[in-house]
Amino acid sequence: MTRLNILMAASECVPFAKEGGLADVVGVLPKYLAHMGHDVRVVMPLYSRIDPERFGLERLPGVLVVPMGIMGNQYCGVWEGRLPGSAVPVYFLEHEGYYGREGLYEEDNVGYMDNDNRFIFLSRAAMELPKLIGFAPDVFHAHDWHTAAVPVFLNTLYRDDPLVGGAASVLTVHNMQHQGNFYPGAMEVLGIGWEHFTFLGLEKDNQTNLLKGGLYHATVLNTVSEGYAREMQTPEYGWGLDGVVRARSADLVGILNGVDYEEWNPETDPHIVANYSRSDLSGKKLCKRDVQRFFGLPEREDVPLFGLVGRLVKQKGIDILAEAIHRILALDVQVVMLGAGEPWSHFYFGDVRNEYPEKFGLYIGYNNGLSHRIEAGSDFFVMPSAFEPCGLNQMYSLRYGTLPIVRATGGLDDSVENFEEQNLTGNGFKFWSHDADALFDTVGWAVHTWFRRKDAMAALIGNAMAKRFTWEDSAARYEELYCRALRKRLGVGVFVRRFGG
Ligand code: ADP
Ligand code: GLC
Repeated sequence: MTRLNILMAASECVPFAKEGGLADVVGVLPKYLAHMGHDVRVVMPLYSRIDPERFGLERLPGVLVVPMGIMGNQYCGVWEGRLPGSAVPVYFLEHEGYYGREGLYEEDNVGYMDNDNRFIFLSRAAMELPKLIGFAPDVFHAHDWHTAAVPVFLNTLYRDDPLVGGAASVLTVHNMQHQGNFYPGAMEVLGIGWEHFTFLGLEKDNQTNLLKGGLYHATVLNTVSEGYAREMQTPEYGWGLDGVVRARSADLVGILNGVDYEEWNPETDPHIVANYSRSDLSGKKLCKRDVQRFFGLPEREDVPLFGLVGRLVKQKGIDILAEAIHRILALDVQVVMLGAGEPWSHFYFGDVRNEYPEKFGLYIGYNNGLSHRIEAGSDFFVMPSAFEPCGLNQMYSLRYGTLPIVRATGGLDDSVENFEEQNLTGNGFKFWSHDADALFDTVGWAVHTWFRRKDAMAALIGNAMAKRFTWEDSAARYEELYCRALRKRLGVGVFVRRFGG
């Protein structure tokens, strides 16, 4: 088939700006699409933490004029760079007023007051950028609420646009909890008309809900696992938008994220003290000692080490971990945690560290190198998430022979296979109820297995390290999704004439 022109709009992208897994996906998927022959480009903000010099960015001539409804035109400079190790162009929007700040979305746990304008701007700029760079997208690919206005614009203000009007749109939902819910007046900044402020449009509880707009308007939708694609249609996981998702279920698919195995490979990882492989695990012992030393824990080989890396927010189940942690630490175990998030958790787990300095290690903050070391050095990796659209760390853990202990939800359920005692199959430990007892019991099961079933541990580690979640597979499914969107947008006849089937 002919190649597609794809414009991906997102608020995060590795290695330029990252808060969570969204950045990993946006930083890797385009490279695989490019390998497949597509012309894919990314647009994102030039946050002040992105240093143009470090990434060799170049300022394009001219300015981008971005209409912002009632606020009139806004102007921004556009810088161009490449995704490292590829020819994929990334366009950075330079707007001091919106992006010249420390955080991506917030500072000191308080979201910026003008996040509506900041991300409506990003979405609208994505619609205008093609003119400046002379690129006619076949598909706009938006991610999460930050760019959910892209499909809305495409169906309204840009429907008849000569350059982009024929394009299809794909919205990938990485998280239903965060929706971009703003005051009604945000409609005036979108400038699409109040007729869209309805139950069957952007209105939700008398607010302008950008994600809801995207869910209605995108040509097709996906999320990052099949499990979450089902869950997000239920009241328990839909955060009030499950009805909208159900209404669009015929156009919704789940595509599990892949792993960037160039970055996450214990055989070559430069962040860890010793490399190791499935056939020679000796380096993993050194990695364990490295983590124990880093956290000031006794350097014991004969104790199971549990790791956790992630945003310390309720989504990740840190509240049930907080409830279970004293019981867990009463066992002969060590636990280390790396993350930052809700302030209560920093204090709470800080106290736990003071109480159990020999058993519990804590690093509050963001540290990529340390996250690799914890993945490599731990025996088990804990993810007790309340919900998890995909989750990346359990997949990294498998590759590092670090057995995941997960709540069976969303992508965690889809990517981890429960240990089966009879025939030694599986690669991790699962629990279902989202409560401290279930978590504690499952940690207990893992501890028992570690001390008493060395045969089973070896089998599980072997199974885990053999498992792969490749981006080749996921990117092929995105290609399929783009074609599906285009067939729907253009009609099958036009699609076949233009793209050859
Ligand atoms: P989410 O996107 O919901 O935060 P994911 O599991 O998809 O969850 O992705 C989280 C990503 O962010 C992983 O790559 C993880 O290693 C990384 N990460 C999260 N917190 C930290 C931290 N404190 N230090 C280093 N890396 C982190
Ligand atoms: C979101 C989800 C996480 C997922 C990531 C990348 O942040 O919380 O589960 O892995 O997006 O898709």
